[in-house]
Amino acid sequence: MAAASHDLRQPLHAMTLFLCSLRHTVTDSRTHELLDKIDETSTILHEQFNSLLDLSKFDAGVVTADESKIRLDLMLKNIADAAAQDAQQKNVALHLYSIPVVVKSDMLLMERLLRNLVNNAVQYTDKGSVSIQMRRQRNGLVISVIDTGIGISLEDQDKIFRDYFQVSNKARSKSKGSGLGLAIVKRIAALLALKITLKSQVGSGSTFNVHVPLSALVELPDMEEVSDDEMDTIQMDFAGLRILIVDDDASILDAMTGLLRTWGRSAISASSPEQVDRLLSYESDFDLVLMDDMLHDDIMGLDIALQLSAKIPKQHIIMATANAASARLAEIKAAGFEVLVKPVDYEVLRRAIVKAVVG
Ligand SMILES: Nc1ncnc2c1ncn2[C@@H]1O[C@H](COP(=O)(O)OP(=O)(O)OP(=O)(O)O)[C@@H](O)[C@H]1O
Ligand SMILES: [Mg+2]
Repeated sequence: MAAASHDLRQPLHAMTLFLCSLRHTVTDSRTHELLDKIDETSTILHEQFNSLLDLSKFDAGVVTADESKIRLDLMLKNIADAAAQDAQQKNVALHLYSIPVVVKSDMLLMERLLRNLVNNAVQYTDKGSVSIQMRRQRNGLVISVIDTGIGISLEDQDKIFRDYFQVSNKARSKSKGSGLGLAIVKRIAALLALKITLKSQVGSGSTFNVHVPLSALVELPDMEEVSDDEMDTIQMDFAGLRILIVDDDASILDAMTGLLRTWGRSAISASSPEQVDRLLSYESDFDLVLMDDMLHDDIMGLDIALQLSAKIPKQHIIMATANAASARLAEIKAAGFEVLVKPVDYEVLRRAIVKAVVG
């Protein structure tokens, strides 16, 4: 295959050139429309050819890892930035929770693996959010790509890593991808000694975890370890919880709700005091409330929190504020609430929630 690639690439290249000159010789608009269509088709053909070529290169053992030191957080930032536009067009929030980490790996291959996962997450999510997170584990580091998208049935979870397998592209529309993304991810993971695990539920979303072994970690700031078991426990602990999130910033609401849903799937959000009132008129049994301090029209979250504390224990109400002025922080604390300063780090949020719930 690798040998045949040159022979196949030649005519593809020639076709592109012919198309280009044809575009300059014809003038009528109907022909131009057809040329556009041929162009699109040829682009897809190119992409598919390249993927196929990549697969065969991996299988022939031609691809080798070229190790260097990588700032993983910056790499993830670039990938997230590149996916941001697609996400925005679909109204899907994209969040990155990372810390400065240096790992030793192949930069291009690592980037490709992560980009594939992030692009898939955006592609297969129509509402909610995609979050990219890092967490420390005893035996390394885990990068998670979490989406609130269509999800993958248990039956399909192994199959999606096979060459050409796609869950819902029965017509095999070429514009819907080729089904080779994860096949390449699988090969890269094998080459870079990364383990990939998947948790997903149809209708709720998917989490792809990339486990980076300790041996590949070069520099790492202090980070609390969170084992998979612990993560599961948190998910279980959260599973029955009813969480209310109050914030007037839509993107933060989305981020928090998305994050909490991936843990517990029961977060309810409100963006105004009116919504809070309405919600509480028909249900008041929230186990946990995340309350932004600065709501619009000068209504302070703290006032609502104080009202709520008649029904919900104060330690189950967590305040968040973007106002880092220490006077305000002191005021909220004096009122008896835990307070976090925005932007709230994912780890800090998780710990605060666990503390509020478990005590
Ligand atoms: N995050 C996800 N949520 C739901 N389904 C997913 C997700 N990621 C992958 N899938 C399913 O797995 C299939 C295979 O994914 P893969 O990335 O290999 O191919 P693809 O996205 O269809 O095409 P491409 O080659 O362009 O990546 C997808 O067609 C989709 O059905
Ligand atoms: Mg894909």
